[in-house]
Amino acid sequence: MAVEVLEQLYEGKAKKVFKTSDDSLYMVEYKDDATAFNGEKRGTIEGKGVINNKVSAMLFQELEKHGIETHLVEFVDDTHMLVKRVEIVPLEVICRNVIAGSLAKRVGKEEGIVLPKTILEFSYKNDDLGDPMINRYHATALGLATDEEIDDIIAQAFKINDILKEVFAKANLVLVDFKLEFGRTPDGKIILADEISPDTCRLWDKDTHEKLDKDRFRRDLGDVEEAYIEVYNRLKKIGL
Ligand code: TMP
Repeated sequence: MAVEVLEQLYEGKAKKVFKTSDDSLYMVEYKDDATAFNGEKRGTIEGKGVINNKVSAMLFQELEKHGIETHLVEFVDDTHMLVKRVEIVPLEVICRNVIAGSLAKRVGKEEGIVLPKTILEFSYKNDDLGDPMINRYHATALGLATDEEIDDIIAQAFKINDILKEVFAKANLVLVDFKLEFGRTPDGKIILADEISPDTCRLWDKDTHEKLDKDRFRRDLGDVEEAYIEVYNRLKKIGL
């Protein structure tokens, strides 16, 4: 690797970000730490950093093949990826194909109902406020993103959903819902950033509806590590 890793810029709940000797690149380190309910529940998922780094890299590479630009530059080692320097847009972009999680609670419906069309939601990425749900009018009025950027983000999110649904279906997994984050490059382009992993997606076995994602940690279902490994193995098996 040609670049040198410099000082840590940021430590989040699941990752650390470092500056590098190349001003246009950051190094991301994936951690085993897990939190849920805005940090109220804490734990460690052995080997999660490695799996999430590998799964994210595989999925980013697959998305790139379909014309989605991501921040991934290079998979470096088990827990590190080199990424483009972006300024994260402080929005969590959630796509839902099946009712689950907070949506099930909010609308009083059972988990597992397949939605006739995909729901896209925004949350304001702010831990102190517990990432409240907002809409595009809040996002633009609060100066989090411009109208053009929101249009771009929505179009990319739906395209990403179409691609990922198909990828996971090949692995006999249902992509129930997931969260994306986007970043602004220094020249103002909006590209996919952060991660896509069993931490940020709900993935159910297509036949049994067994949960193979972070809900196993959130809901104390056990076999958390095994579920993450299973997702990785299935993606490997389909050639990712
Ligand atoms: P939710 O049903 O709890 O709102 O979660 C929707 C999706 O977003 C689910 O796949 C998990 C993911 N998610 C994150 O990646 N980070 C978060 O902080 C939250 C709350 C959800």
